[in-house]
Amino acid sequence: METIRVEHDPTLPGLMTVTLNRPDKLNAISFAMHREILGLCRELQDDGDTRVVIFTGEGRAFSAGADLGRRQAEDGAAPARPPLPTSRSPLKERSIATIGNRSSAAIESVPQVTIGAVNGLAVGGAVVWLSCMDIRLAAASAWFSIPEVALDIPLTWNALPRLVRELGPARTKELVMACDRFSAEDALRWGFVNHVVPDADLMTRARALAKSLLDKDPISIAATKSTVNALANLMVPAEGAHADPDYLMLARLVRRERE
Ligand code: COA
Repeated sequence: METIRVEHDPTLPGLMTVTLNRPDKLNAISFAMHREILGLCRELQDDGDTRVVIFTGEGRAFSAGADLGRRQAEDGAAPARPPLPTSRSPLKERSIATIGNRSSAAIESVPQVTIGAVNGLAVGGAVVWLSCMDIRLAAASAWFSIPEVALDIPLTWNALPRLVRELGPARTKELVMACDRFSAEDALRWGFVNHVVPDADLMTRARALAKSLLDKDPISIAATKSTVNALANLMVPAEGAHADPDYLMLARLVRRERE
C-alpha cells in the first residue's frame, strides 16, 4: 500500500498495526489514504483472525489532518485553505467531499478493538479519526488541534456528534470554535485519551494493552465493544444527528460565488 503500512506481529497473533505512512507530509490524509483505510476496514469486517488494531503515525506526527494540497498562504503567514476542486463532475466532487465521512465511519465500525497511539501531533481530521477509535494513548509530547473553523472550512466527517460523545458539548464547542491547540495532558484530563505515556514507551504501552485484550475471551470483548458503541450512539447518534456530508459542498458553492 502507498499511504499506510500494515504489520502483523508473530509474537502477538491477533494484533495488526496500521501506520499512517506519509512522513514527509506529516501523514496528511490524502484521497489515496482515505481509499486505503476504507479498503482495509472492509477487509477487517470479515477478518476473524485480527482482534486488535493499533493505529499510529510514521515519523514525527500521528497526522496533520486532511491533505490541504498546499500549506502556506502566499505571504507564508498561515496555513491556506485547500484549493477549490477542479473536477467538472458535481457527483465526483461530492464523492471527494464525503470521503472523510465514509473513512471515519469505516474505522468506527470495524469489529476489532482499535487503539489510537498518538505520536507527535494530531490535527483536524486526525482528531476525527481518533474519535472513531475505541481507546487512545498519547505520547507525553503529543498535541492536538481542530483548526477547520479558523481555515473557513466546516468541520465535517460527522465529527461533531463524535466529539460531543467523547468530550461533551461545552468542550467540543470551545475546541471547534476557538481552534486552540491542546496538549496530551489536556486530552487526558478531558477524557479524550485514556493514558499519557512517555514518548519512548508509546508503542510498548499500546502493545501491552493489545496483549491484555488478546488474552481475554474474544466474544466477551466483541460484545462489550458493540454494546458500549450502541449505548454511546443512543446518547449521540454519530451517523444520524445532522446532515454534514454536504456541508463541504455548500461551503465550496459559497466560496465559488465569492471568488
Ligand atoms: N496537508 C498537506 N501537507 C501538509 C499538511 C497537510 N495538512 N500538514 C503538513 N504538511 C506538509 C508540509 O507542506 C510540509 O511539506 P513540504 O516539506 O513538502 O513543504 C511537511 O508536511 C512538513 O510540514 P511543516 O509545516 O514544515 O511542519 P511544521 O512542524 O513546521 O508544522 C504543523 C507542523 C502541523 C503545525 C503544520 O504543518 C500545519 O499547520 N499543517 C496544516 C494542518 C492543518 O491545517 N490540517 C488540516 C486541517 S483541515
